[in-house]
Amino acid sequence: MARLRKAARIWGDPKAREIGQRALITPDDRVFTIDPPAIFGRRAPVEIEIGAGKGEFIIERAAEFPERDFIAVELSATVTRVLAVRCGRAGLGNLRVVRMDARTLVNLMLPDRSVSAYHIYYPDPWPKERHVKHRLFTPTLVASLFRTVEPGATAYVATDVRDYAGEIFPMMLAAGFIRAVEAAPGADRTGFARKYVAAGKPVFSASFRRPRESKNP
Ligand SMILES: C[S@@+](CC[C@H](N)C(=O)[O-])C[C@H]1O[C@@H](n2cnc3c(N)ncnc32)[C@H](O)[C@@H]1O
Repeated sequence: MARLRKAARIWGDPKAREIGQRALITPDDRVFTIDPPAIFGRRAPVEIEIGAGKGEFIIERAAEFPERDFIAVELSATVTRVLAVRCGRAGLGNLRVVRMDARTLVNLMLPDRSVSAYHIYYPDPWPKERHVKHRLFTPTLVASLFRTVEPGATAYVATDVRDYAGEIFPMMLAAGFIRAVEAAPGADRTGFARKYVAAGKPVFSASFRRPRESKNP
């Protein structure tokens, strides 16, 4: 409720809304592809954060790497409004926000080999058996992550749920990714990560690389 009120207050301010709308990518009926070079007006490595929440990590990351382009994907309309205003206020030309189910984006809308990194931190675990169907990670989604990353590109993952990590990590390997030694840069920098780290909770993070020599798609 407090979150809804906060989002309504922020979005109700015309100046904040105008700033947020500038950061938002709004797909419509004519747009079936998200084409990063068309959005950013240049060809640069593209990093995507799925379930970006309020953007604590991706805003810092986009500021850190101005030579790369960033898309923050968020499903919740409420959270997206807060995220878009925060991204707009950061004033970064290399960061845009899209409100959609990341499964639609990754499975259907992104071109092959168009992404240089995915960041997926603390996806909702849906622990109850009857809710498992809502989980982000499925073999289909993971195959699409593989299809859409460039050879040599990395998908970074973190979760606070041991059992979920135990499903995700083998799924990534089964899709053709290989485990990389590199630490996941957002594993301790997102909004949820900061809470978990402060509470001393264990987190399970890993990086997965698409081999350079991998074949189509
Ligand atoms: C537990 S929160 C973690 C947020 C952020 N990654 C962090 O670590 O602070 C999960 C986020 O993923 C979003 N989400 C859940 N399913 C999604 C989907 N299918 N596509 C895009 N975002 C999704 C939720 O709305 C929520 O904001």
